[in-house]
Amino acid sequence: MKFFIDTANLDQIREAQELGVLDGVTTNPSLMAKEGITGKDNIFKHYKKICDIVDGDVSAEVIATDFDGIVREGEELAELHEQIIVKVPMIKDGVKAIKYFSDKGIKTNCTLVFSPGQALLAAKAGATYVSPFIGRLDDISTDGLNLISEIRMIYDNYGFETEILAASVRHTMHVIDCAKIGADVMTGPLSSIVGLLNHPLTDIGLEKFLADHKKGN
Ligand code: E4P
Repeated sequence: MKFFIDTANLDQIREAQELGVLDGVTTNPSLMAKEGITGKDNIFKHYKKICDIVDGDVSAEVIATDFDGIVREGEELAELHEQIIVKVPMIKDGVKAIKYFSDKGIKTNCTLVFSPGQALLAAKAGATYVSPFIGRLDDISTDGLNLISEIRMIYDNYGFETEILAASVRHTMHVIDCAKIGADVMTGPLSSIVGLLNHPLTDIGLEKFLADHKKGN
């Protein structure tokens, strides 16, 4: 399972990278705005900075919602750096653009996916990644993890190569459950990654080992 961090915060990206388990980064317009990154030049520079920190894929989302605009913006983003994955919303023109990018060998992440039908369309259009938002489904009392299971079954039935990128992951249990179901990738906050380290028996055990070592020396 690949681990992506879902942030545009460079310190957090560095921290996850230094842990040695990071496979990529996802961003979205809200996350960029949260870091105060505005204006095309600054946004593009920021994507490059992220690419310089991590070795893996970096999702950069288009703002346009019409086919020509998505294609224009996506091509510019893809030109920026070889690690850039063009993030395209699950709308009619988005699906058309994903097919266009796929034919041209440009990698895509189909975002804002909330149903198995949408995931099927994304795969048929040739998306590299599909992003079902599990946390936002949970927020409206709908089982987000069940969506991951349904997509896994559909993709396995037909051998689709589109990778299931479980998005809107909020905590460590989301990560563990997605791993059990067989999501190819998860993207979540730094806390959902480093939180996996924690177990009280590890802390108690280590404290005892170190105390016993001290006694014996
Ligand atoms: C996906 O790539 C999105 O950036 C993200 O996971 C959305 O998460 P949120 O629902 O916590 O905003």
